[in-house]
Amino acid sequence: MIRKYVFGKPFETDAVVMEMENRDGLPEFGEISLENGFSFTCTMEKDDIVYGLGEANRGINKRGFCYISDCTDDPNHTEDKNSLYGAHNFIVLAGKKNVGFFFDYPSKLIFDIGYTDLDVLKVSCEKADLKLYVIEGESPYDIVKQFRKMIGRSYIPPKFAFGFGQSRWGYKTKEDYRKVREGYRKNRIPLDMIYMDIDYMQDYKDFTLNEENFSDFPEFVQEMKEDGIRLIPIIDAGVKIEKGYEVYEEGVEKGYFCKRADGSNFVAAVWPGYTHFPDVLNADARKWFGGWYHVLTDQGIEGFWNDMNEPAIFYSEEGMEEFKAVLRENSTMEEENPAVAIGDKMQALSNNPADHTRFYHTVNGEKICHKDVHNLFGYNMTRAAGEAFERIAPDKRFLMFSRSSYIGMHRYGGIWTGDNKSWWSHLLLNLKMMPSLNMCGFLYTGADLGGFGADTTRDLVLRWLALGVFTPLMRNHSDLRTREQECYQFGDTEDFRQIIETRYRLVPYLYSEYMKAALNDDLYFKPMAFVYPEDEIAVRTEDQLMIGNEVMIAPVYTQNAKGRFVYLPERMMLVKFTGDSAVYQEVLEKGIHYVEVALNEVPVFIREGKCIPVAASAQTVAELDTKHLTLMGFDGAEYALYEDDGVSKDYENPENIRTLSGALLLFEK
Ligand code: NOJ
Repeated sequence: MIRKYVFGKPFETDAVVMEMENRDGLPEFGEISLENGFSFTCTMEKDDIVYGLGEANRGINKRGFCYISDCTDDPNHTEDKNSLYGAHNFIVLAGKKNVGFFFDYPSKLIFDIGYTDLDVLKVSCEKADLKLYVIEGESPYDIVKQFRKMIGRSYIPPKFAFGFGQSRWGYKTKEDYRKVREGYRKNRIPLDMIYMDIDYMQDYKDFTLNEENFSDFPEFVQEMKEDGIRLIPIIDAGVKIEKGYEVYEEGVEKGYFCKRADGSNFVAAVWPGYTHFPDVLNADARKWFGGWYHVLTDQGIEGFWNDMNEPAIFYSEEGMEEFKAVLRENSTMEEENPAVAIGDKMQALSNNPADHTRFYHTVNGEKICHKDVHNLFGYNMTRAAGEAFERIAPDKRFLMFSRSSYIGMHRYGGIWTGDNKSWWSHLLLNLKMMPSLNMCGFLYTGADLGGFGADTTRDLVLRWLALGVFTPLMRNHSDLRTREQECYQFGDTEDFRQIIETRYRLVPYLYSEYMKAALNDDLYFKPMAFVYPEDEIAVRTEDQLMIGNEVMIAPVYTQNAKGRFVYLPERMMLVKFTGDSAVYQEVLEKGIHYVEVALNEVPVFIREGKCIPVAASAQTVAELDTKHLTLMGFDGAEYALYEDDGVSKDYENPENIRTLSGALLLFEK
């Protein structure tokens, strides 16, 4: 049961696709105040759990902290941070009463979830212009499914996107890419994608290629494809200001960039230096910007990642002027604390909220201040691409994921979780964030495996890859200022090969479960609590997850550990994969077990009475032999396998589902 309430004059975000009548009056649940902006308050019972918020810090249960939806380019995801790159304003209060809330509000929104006052949930924002959806259901899981239906089908990537991808900021030349390819192929480590970060562009200009390094680009794309590898270039939000650069010239001429109050184009410094932002909230400008992806798809490119689209601003022209003024004022160093004044001003230059008040979007002829719709920029940049792909090749799937997002964008692409660090705590954060993201519609998602910032270690990369085996987006990516972390950079590559082979062995199952989740508005990753709601230990377990309908995972996330304690809410079959070389099985009873996990092993827990299809590994997803699958699990179990061509959009074809039966590698009756 969903109720929709409209307050003031909300901006149309297009987050929700389901048609619904507006309700009069106020929701029965909680209290709403429309004085000094908007606030919603309700009390929480001692044991209530709060789920949701998608890409957010901390645990699966969001209680006890304050989260702020305010898309931010902040690469330091320490525990105290309230905002990350996305704004996913959906929560579920679960306890004796279960109720979900979606606050469809595109600017800064504060979720104080028992932070100020232990038992009080308070959601507030500056303007009382929003839509509030209140969802009641029999369980949090049921509420999530209703919500997912309401916001429309999640993005479905091509099947190759379930392969493994290597990325690093700093690959510059064809030789750099060939080296990565050789590193993988020579060591027989499977690989489907190599990502191209900003250095492939000419002077960081979107939709250009570095002239010296990438002449004959279509031939190079083809050369890689012949080896089973797709190149996936990055696209940034800012368009470089440069005379003669077509994207810039055309955007200026058509008036498609974000503008200041006086009608001039807003100027922000990002990687290319000074840039303009395409006004992707304006439907015409969005179509125009999306049209440029053609330049690369025409050359054989089949996937992209959209970056810096919070949008990230290193500094604006106005910010720089203000900074210079502070420098001048303090130039004699005789004022009080001049160094502090200068330092503070310098720090405040980047991602300065004041800049959000300095530019405007033109939506249906109306000027809208960026501040009021800030959280929609990344969403609409990715929507620009998604809508363009529909025009370019309506029946073909493209790989697409974004850094910044808002609910609604989940229909156009996935996300990666941005600039994490090579910290063990971020491996755990990755694990916990996955089900929350799924609740908000983002199914195609994953983190920078091995960690983006800071120097990694061999064991961290391996353990993180072992989690990445299960994340739909499985990509190793790192910052150019850090230790190289491709799988062949740590001496012996055997362990890496075995972990990634395990991913490929599981692709038929993972893809099948992904597709079922997407097509049925369901979750691919579930918290334990959604599957075992009566089991109090399971309900509070956050370092294990359920995948699809058959599997539980319990990754190792501490250094030097030889294994970990795992809680089994029911009898399960533990299958330890070691790539193609070995599989070890054992049935474990309900309860707590210490499970040893070597660095080259990936444990999978199969639920009682179920089985999963497993392939022999291959170097690419395309090479997997899905005609000869082995069923692993309990005797007599059947599995409904979803399989399609992985490229076109004939999702509903009944032939895509086939039932496999007769578990082969059974351990016991
Ligand atoms: C920021 C992104 O989060 C990161 O993944 C990328 O490598 C850098 N921008 C450079 O493009």
